[in-house]
Amino acid sequence: MLPLVFTVLILCSCFLNDGSCDLYDELRELKTEFDISLYQQLAELENRTNLIVAPASVALSLGLLQFGAQGNTFTQLENALGYNIHDPRVQEFLHAEYEDMTNSSQGPVVQLACALFVQAGGHLSPCFIDHMALWANSSLQKTNFSEPNRTASQINEWLTSNTEGGEADCIYLDTVDSPLNQMAVVSTMYFKSIWQEKFSFKDTQFLPFTTAEGITLEVPTMYQMAEVNYGQFHAPSLEQLSVVELPYLGERVSMFVVLPNDRRTSLSLLESHLSSNVITLWANSLKRMKMDVFLPRFRIQSRFDLKVVLPALGITDMFDPTKADFKGISDQGSLYISEAIHKAKIEVTEKGTKASGATAMVLLKRSRSPIFKADRPFLFFLRHTNTGSVLFIGRVTNPSE
Ligand SMILES: *[C@@H]1O[C@H](CO)[C@@H](O)[C@H](O)[C@H]1NC(C)=O
Ligand SMILES: *[C@@H]1O[C@H](CO)[C@@H](O)[C@H](O)[C@H]1NC(C)=O
Ligand SMILES: *[C@@H]1O[C@H](CO)[C@@H](O)[C@H](O)[C@H]1NC(C)=O
Ligand SMILES: *[C@@H]1O[C@H](CO)[C@@H](O)[C@H](O)[C@H]1NC(C)=O
Ligand SMILES: *[C@@H]1O[C@H](CO)[C@@H](O)[C@H](O)[C@H]1NC(C)=O
Repeated sequence: MLPLVFTVLILCSCFLNDGSCDLYDELRELKTEFDISLYQQLAELENRTNLIVAPASVALSLGLLQFGAQGNTFTQLENALGYNIHDPRVQEFLHAEYEDMTNSSQGPVVQLACALFVQAGGHLSPCFIDHMALWANSSLQKTNFSEPNRTASQINEWLTSNTEGGEADCIYLDTVDSPLNQMAVVSTMYFKSIWQEKFSFKDTQFLPFTTAEGITLEVPTMYQMAEVNYGQFHAPSLEQLSVVELPYLGERVSMFVVLPNDRRTSLSLLESHLSSNVITLWANSLKRMKMDVFLPRFRIQSRFDLKVVLPALGITDMFDPTKADFKGISDQGSLYISEAIHKAKIEVTEKGTKASGATAMVLLKRSRSPIFKADRPFLFFLRHTNTGSVLFIGRVTNPSE
C-alpha cells in the first residue's frame, strides 16, 4: 500500500521541477502497485484455484466512490489508490488511460462497466450525479433495498449482461436493518481479442498438465512456432522462471505468461514477489527469439466479494454503517457500502474466439528451437504496451476447470 506521503512527495517534486517530471509515469506506477496489491490479496484468499481480476475496473469504481467520500472514508481510499481524485491532473490521467484502454479501433475489445445501486427515492447530490455521468462507463441504478431478493436479482442481471457470454450470476443479499442507507457497487471487465500470431486449431492436442498437487491431466494445448519475446529470470529466494510475451492483434496489448521452471515452485511464492518494478523489468528485458510455444486453452470467470479483500488494503470505513462518510453522495442519512462485487472474464483460445469441436492429434515436428511449455501452473497478465497498464492479472492452476 502506498501512503499518502508518497503521493504528496511526487506532486511536490513535480512543482519543484517546474512540471518537467512526468506525473503520468508516477501515477502509472502507483496504479500498478494498487493492481498488484489487490491481486496479491485475492490470490492469498483463493490460493489453489484459477483466478482472474481486472484491477483497472476495481480502481475505477473506487475512484468513483472517492468522489463522494469525505473524512476518513476518503483518506482510506486515497491511501489505497495512491491519488486524490479531486486533483484535475489525476482525473485527466485516469480519463486518458480509460480512453486508451477501451479504444477498440485497433483490435482488442475491452468492456468495462461500473454501477452504483442506490435506494430509490433517496436524494443524491447533483454534483455527484454529474461526476458519475462523466466517469468511465458508470451508471446509477435505483433499487429498493427493503426487498433484498429483488435487489439481488437486479444486480445479478446487471452482472450477467455486462460480461458478454458470461454465465448467469447468483448473489444473495442479506436483509439488513437499515435498508435506506445501503449502496452496492459493482464492477465488471471483459476482454476479447485475437492473437497477433494465431495458434492453429489443427496443432492443438491433448497434452499433460501437472497441477501443484502432482496430478497429471490431459488438456487441450495450443501450439505454435513463433518469433516471441522471451526471457529467463532469477529472483532472490525464487527458482528460475520464464516469461513469454504473446501480443494480441495490433500489438497494443500483450499477454505475459510467467512460468516457474520448476513445477514444485509454488505460485504463491512468485505472487508475493510481484511488484510494479518486477513487471516493468520483465517487460523491458525480454529478447526476441524463435520458439516452440505450448499454451493450454483456458477460460476463467471470477467473481469476488470485495468486502473481504479491500479491508486488507486499508479500506474499511466505507463498509461500516457507523463510520462510512459519503456526504458527497447524499447528505441525508448515513450511506455505507453493503455490497462490493467485481467480476472479470477471459477466454484464451487459438484465435481468441470460443473454440469448439474435437481437436486433431498431430505429430509435432522436432525442431531445434527452445521450448516454452506451460504444462504446470502459471501466472499471466495482460498489459498495455504503450502505457504499461495492467488490464488483467490472474493464474491458471488447472486449465480444465
Ligand atoms: C493455501 O492456503 C492455506 C490456508 O490459508 C494454507 O494452509 C496453504 O499452505 C496455502 N497453500 C499455498 C500453496 O500457499
Ligand atoms: C483510438 O485509437 C486510434 C488509433 O490510435 C485514434 O486515432 C483514435 O483517436 C482513438 N480514439 C479515441 C476515442 O481515443
Ligand atoms: C459500457 O457499458 C455498457 C453497458 O453497461 C456496455 O454495453 C459497453 O460495452 C460499455 N462500454 C465500454 C467501453 O466498456
Ligand atoms: C420499498 O419496498 C418496501 C417493502 O416492499 C415498500 O414498502 C416501499 O414503498 C418501497 N420503496 C420504494 C421507494 O419503492
Ligand atoms: C429471499 O431469498 C431467500 C433465499 O433464496 C429465501 O430464503 C427467502 O424466502 C426470500 N425472501 C423473500 C421475501 O422472497
